[in-house]
Order: sequence, then structure tokens, then C-alpha cells
Amino acid sequence: MRSYGARKRILVTGGAGFLGSHLCERLLADGHDVLCVDNFFTGTKKNIEHLLGNPNFELMRHDVTFPLYVEVDEIYNLACPASPVHYQYDPVQTTKTSVHGAINMLGLAKRVKAKILQASTSEVYGDPEVHPQTESYWGHVNPIGIRSCYDEGKRCAETLFFDYHRQHGLRIKVARIFNTYGPRMHPNDGRVVSNFIVQALNGEAITVFGEGNQTRSFCYVDDLIESFVRLMATPDEFTGPVNVGNPGEFTILELARKVIELTGSKSKIEFRPLPSDDPMQRKPDIALAKSALQWAPKVPLEAGLARTIEYFRNPACAV
Ligand SMILES: NC(=O)c1ccc[n+]([C@@H]2O[C@H](COP(=O)([O-])OP(=O)(O)OC[C@H]3O[C@@H](n4cnc5c(N)ncnc54)[C@H](O)[C@@H]3O)[C@@H](O)[C@H]2O)c1
Repeated sequence: MRSYGARKRILVTGGAGFLGSHLCERLLADGHDVLCVDNFFTGTKKNIEHLLGNPNFELMRHDVTFPLYVEVDEIYNLACPASPVHYQYDPVQTTKTSVHGAINMLGLAKRVKAKILQASTSEVYGDPEVHPQTESYWGHVNPIGIRSCYDEGKRCAETLFFDYHRQHGLRIKVARIFNTYGPRMHPNDGRVVSNFIVQALNGEAITVFGEGNQTRSFCYVDDLIESFVRLMATPDEFTGPVNVGNPGEFTILELARKVIELTGSKSKIEFRPLPSDDPMQRKPDIALAKSALQWAPKVPLEAGLARTIEYFRNPACAV
């Protein structure tokens, strides 16, 4: 058993989602008691059904926009739809989940003196004018666009975390997550990695927005989860925000070609108009994560894609 300290009672909101389910798994493997809270908006029981028999695992259906009263030592706040398709489906609810969800979880952390980690996002940088983005960059965000419910919701959540820290002395950790991929991503939520894999496996055209020159960095889920656990274990003085992601930069076109190659698909690439507010470049500067967490991603894109493709080949994923 890995050990990052004594056995703790840990709440994971959004625990039935893509990242949350991997985090629950990891925390159980580290010997902790895990309470997974989710309203199943985008997450599914299937993601955590293999954990249900574990006596240290508990599942609670709950919406974080309502207060929660539980006794825990640590909180990982992941609840929030993460893909544009899902967060734009009900934008008001998205902002409520980010903002009211943060208020409720921070209130809980304050009451029970728990340490709390926020799953923030590289979207707080908006369409950045600085590359790669360091944590000191304040961002270039449209406050009234179709992505704003998510971007501004997450920015406000960060504000709340830091105000609870300054005003109430809460022990906070803020992770700014860059594109992460892996098994249990939603098969049709429009995120580029899952999209391309599903299209390739179905022999459909791979849809690339714009000319495909926009770049993204892709972090494999196991690397990301390791950074979360390390961040939570940092000394109380360390709050972040800290970028976590893989700085390897690939164009969307390169990704499409890699997916075609690794799946052995005969799919063709098709170009579509670029959606509004789609950033041209996104690459984390992870110098802070390297020094504060002694962490850097280890899984190369090919290896991570191969594992993800394997997952999506399984008919149970409803590809
Ligand atoms: N995956 C990425 O690349 C990425 C990048 C940046 C930030 N993030 C952040 O990480 C977190 C997890 O993302 P993910 O990729 O696992 O997405 P996901 O959609 O798979 O997981 C989100 C989970 O939150 C749950 N949820 C949504 N609204 C809720 C509510 N009101 N109450 C309770 N549960 C609710 C969903 O049902 C789902 O299980 C999100 O906060 C997201 O913003 C993810």
C-alpha cells in the first residue's frame, strides 16, 4: 500500500465522473475511506461499480449546489460538467455548480476543519496571450460568451477558495488542470481525444475544427491523479494555484493522425468551422508543479492513447 500519511476520511465530489472515479480508486488503494458524492449529471455508476463492494467506499447521490453535512478530513472538489457539450447544456446550472458548489464545500471544510482541493482548469486563462501559461498570468477571458458559464464559474470558485483562505484560514489547494484523457472519458461529450477515438473506431470521418493548427497538451489520467494526491499532501502554506498537465504540445491535426494510426482505422479527416472562443494554443508551464510537488507527467501520448483506445474498444463503453 502506498502511503501519503495516515488513513483519512476523504470526500470526492464528482467522484463518479472521469477523473473522480480514478481518484476514488487511487485513494482507496492508498488505504483511505472514500465518500463519493455525485448527482450523475455526466458521471455514471458504471465508472465506480467496481468499487461498490469495497467496505471503505461509500456512494452518495447529492447535488453540490445544496449544502452537505458529513464528517471528513479532506475534500477534493471535482463536481462540475467539464466538456463544452455538457457545460453548455444548462449554463446557469454550470455556474451554480461551480459557485454554489464551491461555497457549500468550503462551508463544509470550514465547519469540519478539512483540507480542500479545487479542480480548477486551464480555461481560467481563456484565450491566452502568453505561452506557455504560468500561474501568474491572469487570463484573457470573455465574460459573456458561450464558454463563460464554465470559465467564469471556475474563476469565481478560485476567488472563493482564496477568500475563505484569507478570511477564515482554510487550508486550500487549487489545481489548474490542463486537458486530461484516459479510460472512462465520456464517449460522446465532444472532447477531442474521446471524439477522435470514437470516430476512428466507428470508421467515421475525424472532424477537425479550423485547419487543425491549434495546439493542445494532453495529460494521461494516472499522471494527473498523482499530481492531485501530491498537491493535497503539500504543507499548509502551499495553496497553489498550480498548473497540472503535460507540456508536450501537439496540433489537433497531429492528434487526429496518431489516433488513426493507433486504431488502424480507415477514417478520413474532415475540416469544420472553428467554434467561437476556441483557444489557438494551450500549453501548461509546469515549473511550479515540478518544484512544489516534485511531479512531472510520465506517460507518453502514444502509450496513454493506446490504453484509452483499448478502453473504448470494449463494447460496454457504448461506442
Ligand atoms: N478532464 C479534463 O481534462 C479537465 C480539465 C480541466 C478541469 N477539469 C475539472 O475536473 C473536474 C472533473 O472533470 P471530469 O473530466 O472528470 O468531468 P466529468 O464530467 O466526467 O466529471 C464531473 C462529475 O461531476 C458530477 N457533477 C456535475 N454537476 C454536479 C453537481 N451539481 N453535484 C454533484 N455532482 C455533479 C458529474 O455527474 C460527474 O460525475 C471538473 O471540475 C472539471 O472542471 C477537468
